[in-house]
Amino acid sequence: MSNTVLQSNKQNAHLTFKANRGIGRHDWLRLTPAYSVHLVKQELEQHDPAQVVLDPFSGTGTTGICAAENGHDAILTDLNPFLIWLAKAKSYNYSTVETSNARAKLAEVLSIAEKLDANKLWIPPLHNIERWWGSAQLKALAQLRAAIYSLAGGKENDLLLIGFCNTLIKVSNAAFNHQSVSFKKAPQAALLDIGDGKEVFVSFFRDVEKIIESAEIPLDGAVSVVEVDARKILTPQKADIVITSPPYVNRMSYIRELRPYMYWLGFLEEAKEAGELDWKAIGGTWGTATSKLNSWADARAIPIKDIEPLTQKIAAANDKNGNLLSVYVKKYFYDMWEHFESVHKVLNPGAQLVYIVGNSSFYGHVVPAEQWYGELMSAIGFENVMIETIRKRNSNKALFEFAVRAEKA
Ligand SMILES: C[S@@+](CC[C@H](N)C(=O)[O-])C[C@H]1O[C@@H](n2cnc3c(N)ncnc32)[C@H](O)[C@@H]1O
Repeated sequence: MSNTVLQSNKQNAHLTFKANRGIGRHDWLRLTPAYSVHLVKQELEQHDPAQVVLDPFSGTGTTGICAAENGHDAILTDLNPFLIWLAKAKSYNYSTVETSNARAKLAEVLSIAEKLDANKLWIPPLHNIERWWGSAQLKALAQLRAAIYSLAGGKENDLLLIGFCNTLIKVSNAAFNHQSVSFKKAPQAALLDIGDGKEVFVSFFRDVEKIIESAEIPLDGAVSVVEVDARKILTPQKADIVITSPPYVNRMSYIRELRPYMYWLGFLEEAKEAGELDWKAIGGTWGTATSKLNSWADARAIPIKDIEPLTQKIAAANDKNGNLLSVYVKKYFYDMWEHFESVHKVLNPGAQLVYIVGNSSFYGHVVPAEQWYGELMSAIGFENVMIETIRKRNSNKALFEFAVRAEKA
């Protein structure tokens, strides 16, 4: 394996989700683990638009939309049903009839919503919901949701629902700071001043308007979005390029940030479903996913030279959680190994892959995810594995983000 390390000591925020603000469809719904449009476009530059792009961990669909904007056909896969819905809606080519229907429906929703008796409406069974929204905001959200769901069907309804997701997070008291969700102590003063939730309607109107405007710009390529586990990928056709960013080995559960949307839109009905879904996700630790780790064991020896000694050090480093975290790290790489085996089967010869991934640190022991990806790829038969450092992650001197490249022979 050749290791071309372009040490980058800069945080390069233009290579993170922050860069996607204000960029059309990419800005429809913010998700912290999304990567940057610039990063994907840079990768696509060298490729012929006739080549099919695959993102097996597609999240909000950044790769697919960039690919389609550049004229490629793309296949997106993920296992979170909300993200599948979102990526489908973001990568759909809306006709002029559909966008004008969306505008008419937006006006209709606002007029229906204000007439609904908010005290009789459904609100989601989200734990401690009063920490998320003040009562006026909650009522206005319940009115908007009920009004949207009262509309006759049509693809344009998705544009309203995505606007609704934007609004519900904007008017909430939650902030997504890295690993945890934090809540402002009291509802925002500005919201309290109005007190009747009207600002929620105003925000919804603006959010949906902005989304409709960018939905009017068509995409050149076709995007298919498939709900499937990346360890058992099925695609409608073989791909020539993989550009992706899998979960990192950092115990961050996507479900944490997605919960509010998933509850409001009915993708989650009770808390235990969140844990079940996260157990299927690579690196997931939400709810029951953590307790299930206790009884997990690898069925085959993982082809990574240093995984045993390093995970033993992690296990010994802490009496309380060391063991659990060492199993967490092993299971993560076991799952990624299964993923690399699976993706190998859905690629054309000569296919080029780039995986964006960060390393992590457990009790001061750095898990070199980029090196270990390289070892797994080589073990499966991928060639020309190369690692490039693309940015520094945060103030921790040891943490970086890498592009791990390889080719299918
Ligand atoms: C870092 S995010 C990808 C973000 C994406 N690049 C974007 O711009 O939105 C990783 C994604 O992997 C998905 N994922 C985790 N485990 C998976 C699995 N076993 N199969 C398929 N997708 C999985 C998560 O649901 C999440 O959307």
